[in-house]
Amino acid sequence: MNFEIIELTREQEQAISEIENAVFSVPFQREQIKFSLNDKKHKKLFGVLFEDKLVGYIEMQEILGEAEVNRMAVLSSFRGKQLGKELLARGLEFAKERNCEICFLEVRKNNSVARNLYESFGFEPVGERKDYYTLPTDDAIIYKKFLR
Ligand SMILES: CC(C)(COP(=O)(O)OP(=O)(O)OC[C@H]1O[C@@H](n2cnc3c(N)ncnc32)[C@H](O)[C@@H]1OP(=O)(O)O)[C@@H](O)C(=O)NCCC(=O)NCCS
Repeated sequence: MNFEIIELTREQEQAISEIENAVFSVPFQREQIKFSLNDKKHKKLFGVLFEDKLVGYIEMQEILGEAEVNRMAVLSSFRGKQLGKELLARGLEFAKERNCEICFLEVRKNNSVARNLYESFGFEPVGERKDYYTLPTDDAIIYKKFLR
């Protein structure tokens, strides 16, 4: 299958929203997605296209030399095809382009698939936030990775 990684713009706002609604119990709302797409100073969103359809995306943030993975999702029927890896690799490339020394992220404690992915990229757990997530309630694990 032919996939392509692209930078996302306002054109993909609707498609991002559809992924959010399909994947997350507490999806980002349209206003939040619009805000991220417009915040060119701190944020960058990358997507993966299959036959012109957006099937996954990642939202990166950079503030004062610190990067963060704010969000990442692949539609369920496209999982297990290394697209998550491609997106994360592109996101970390962006962080390096912005000269970040470190990247953080938060993930649900029971999300073993995402945790495996992050750990395979060298992210290390550095903290926990009790009951951070809702629907269902879950702790957050904070991960960090040095980029240099
Ligand atoms: C997390 C997510 C983005 C991974 O996307 P994906 O395209 O399926 O991931 P990949 O195919 O690139 O797999 C990357 C790694 O994830 C892990 N992984 C993927 N599927 C897995 C599974 N079913 N069980 C365990 N680990 C798995 C593995 O470490 C895998 O590496 P490997 O293929 O070398 O073993 C996707 O599962 C998803 O959208 N989940 C729901 C939203 C979410 O949890 N987002 C992250 C938190 S915000």
